[in-house]
Amino acid sequence: MQKLSESMRLKGKKVAFIPTMGFLHEGHMSLLREGQKHGDYLVLSIFVNPTQFAAGEDLDTYPSNLDGDFAMAENEGVNAVFLPDSNSIYGDNYQTYVELENLPLFLCGQNRPSHFKGVSTVVAKLFNIVKPHVAVFGQKDFQQLAIIRQMTIDLNFDIEIIGAPIVRESDGLAMSSRNSYLTEKQRVYGLSLIKALQKTQELVSNGEKSSEVLINTALKIITSNPETSIDYLTICDPVYLDKVSVVDKPVLFALAVNVGDTRLIDNAILTP
Ligand code: PAJ
Repeated sequence: MQKLSESMRLKGKKVAFIPTMGFLHEGHMSLLREGQKHGDYLVLSIFVNPTQFAAGEDLDTYPSNLDGDFAMAENEGVNAVFLPDSNSIYGDNYQTYVELENLPLFLCGQNRPSHFKGVSTVVAKLFNIVKPHVAVFGQKDFQQLAIIRQMTIDLNFDIEIIGAPIVRESDGLAMSSRNSYLTEKQRVYGLSLIKALQKTQELVSNGEKSSEVLINTALKIITSNPETSIDYLTICDPVYLDKVSVVDKPVLFALAVNVGDTRLIDNAILTP
């Protein structure tokens, strides 16, 4: 992959990179299309990265459909799919990790304390392997995008990081490879996340400024559905990710909710 990328760079091509864990859906496709706009050699990686899964999480059952992924990649004009195995990424004596100090402590990091260390490490490695000029990440994983942006600055990666908007199903559910775990009923309960985000934006537009009021409203909407349990509902600064109690500027409302055994995340910028 390094040799291939280097040869493209020498030909004057601009390498655009979309890292994924596969089981591609329209959300991933939108990143590929964004990548097309910014580069002329499009690389997709598919790697279910073990270091970002904690014990008891869904590493072993993470959905996969390589044939489907290849077909979708080809349709979007992907030039190369990088598909490493775990041993070639993490060798026998592996011991080097990239870890950010603050951003991983908030939101998803509270209940998944080692997750972002795995993400920042694998993305740094993929950057060194794929050597892109530009890389595209989804705003669906808002904290991940913030962490990658900060890591890119902190470690002087010469890579432009682009954030792409959340792609949703027609009923509003944010697309995710993990949606395939949901039963038909749970899928309906999962719609409470977008309903909560829409309702809180409406309240903010009508002048509500209290994060507490907004969070309680969202909490009621979500927990009125069976099988839901809240991981977090947080209104925070969109850059530093620390909590905000008064909504007098655009803020991030980020949520993580378990529906049955499936963890769903979603977010929106609430603008007064
Ligand atoms: P994965 O969950 O496969 O997501 C790959 C990329 O697709 C991420 O940038 C994610 O934010 C984006 N994405 C997923 N669902 C989306 C949606 N509905 N709308 C827009 N973008 C969406 O995120 C990972 O993999 C991994 O952590 C990875 C970065 C590959 C590192 O292992």
